[in-house]
Amino acid sequence: MFDVPVISTDPATFHAELRAQLEALIGDERDPIANLANAAALIWHTAPELNWAGFYLRRSEDELVLGPFQGKPACVRIAVGRGVCGTAVARDASVRVEDVHAFPGHIACDGASRSELVVPIRHNGRVVGVLDLDSPQLARFSEADQVGFEALVTVLEQRTALDSVL
Ligand code: SME
Repeated sequence: MFDVPVISTDPATFHAELRAQLEALIGDERDPIANLANAAALIWHTAPELNWAGFYLRRSEDELVLGPFQGKPACVRIAVGRGVCGTAVARDASVRVEDVHAFPGHIACDGASRSELVVPIRHNGRVVGVLDLDSPQLARFSEADQVGFEALVTVLEQRTALDSVL
């Protein structure tokens, strides 16, 4: 049984604790669906003010496909270069959007979303997917959150067999 951990609300310690929780959850498991699914569930149950948390996987050069997530059902396919997710892949960099209504090309899967953070997942130097977080709160994600979730993605990159689904 998994007890939802009580994690500090202090941003400085929240991300270190979240990483430790993810490492404990993953253990020796390397299956990508299992690890991404548990990562989405962990984020969903610990990070406040989210309305969507999950992954898109780069199934081909030009397209992302919906992966494990928590939240409302979402759009299945996103072209590289489109939306916040596709932009993060095209730029090979995280994209933090304080107001999604002001982001040209934002794809509204859930009308409640007001801010978004997308972090690329890399394998052998190539972007193979993204972590996508949505919030109903304007400017929900700070620079510290971006750094923290980038470090969380590094744990996934190091401890998951990402090549087996791509
Ligand atoms: N808003 C994203 C689409 C995915 S959903 O938010 C889950 C985008 O613009 O790429």
